[in-house]
Amino acid sequence: MANRRPKISVIGAGFVGSTCAHWAASKELGDVVLIDINGDAAKGKALDLFEASPVEGFDSNVVGGSDYALTKDSDVVVITAGLPRKPGMSRDDLLATNAKIVKECAQNVAKFSPNCVLIVVSNPLDAMCHVAMDATGFPRERVLGMAGVLDSARFRSFIAMECNVSVEDVQAFVFGGHGDTMVPMPRYVSVGGVPLTQMLPKERIDAIVDRTRKGGAEIVELLKTGSAYYAPAASAVQMVEAIVRDKKRILPCAVNLKGEYGVTGLFVGVLAKLGAKGLEGVPTLEMNAEEKDMFGKSAAAVKGLVDDMKRLGLS
Ligand code: NAI
Ligand code: 2OP
Repeated sequence: MANRRPKISVIGAGFVGSTCAHWAASKELGDVVLIDINGDAAKGKALDLFEASPVEGFDSNVVGGSDYALTKDSDVVVITAGLPRKPGMSRDDLLATNAKIVKECAQNVAKFSPNCVLIVVSNPLDAMCHVAMDATGFPRERVLGMAGVLDSARFRSFIAMECNVSVEDVQAFVFGGHGDTMVPMPRYVSVGGVPLTQMLPKERIDAIVDRTRKGGAEIVELLKTGSAYYAPAASAVQMVEAIVRDKKRILPCAVNLKGEYGVTGLFVGVLAKLGAKGLEGVPTLEMNAEEKDMFGKSAAAVKGLVDDMKRLGLS
């Protein structure tokens, strides 16, 4: 990290991107640059956010536009550019359109910030991580996907609601791809130190797992014109914070696996150690036969998307 304030760029100034900028600036994680193909919208949102800083009392410079030169020498870049899901659409419907957008954004990012850590948010998430890695040529340590923190936050929220406890006391994580095959891990949930499996009957846990898997669609059905953005942005910013503050946090993220859990060369959600260098380790845990089976199916779903992209000439 450079000997100056961290520089955080967010590509895509839509709902997720502008909310990322908001939280990153208000937490004073560094100076923030907001880029969008619609440069005036990015510039306007950045100016509006900066004008909030005297009132809210945060000290972060925030600028925006369409020119990637603004992002030069960023420490962390979050890519949120791309279309969101509409009701009835799957994340995979977004594949072709968003692959082109993410490729273009990632190439521009690499040109101006060849040493940054890249966090991909655009959907379909795991496939877009592959696009970003191919487009930048970055090592796996510097290309991470945000989905696990979000899916785990939903899992934690639903557990807290069901158990009538504070979300602060619920530790839980979700593995696998960011899609219908994601793998919430109830065996590893702690509610204030007590295993969830000792607190709730199996049918209640199954219902929470199911709601977690459909958590994105639940918000899409309610919003009707787009997808979730508060929790996604908060989740991406938690990853940014872990990196710019070199926190060595263990967070569920999409990581390009190199043999961990028997998977090689695919982005799949697992626990990752995040610090100044980006990915600093993949702590592995034991899965039982059922968990292994679900994880394998989720990895296979990601492989299906990667194969589709190859067939369509998208990567
Ligand atoms: P949005 O439509 O509000 O914003 C997308 C922005 O990208 C727009 O401002 C658009 O102008 C911009 N854009 C499009 N093409 C561009 C290009 N070539 N260069 C720069 N900017 C470009 O959408 P929203 O809600 O912000 O979602 C963004 C993406 O994040 C979607 O793909 C969505 O599915 C995904 N997402 C992923 C989540 C995850 O867990 N990984 C969670 C929530 C959203
Ligand atoms: C979500 O999970 C749409 O991927 C997005 O909210």
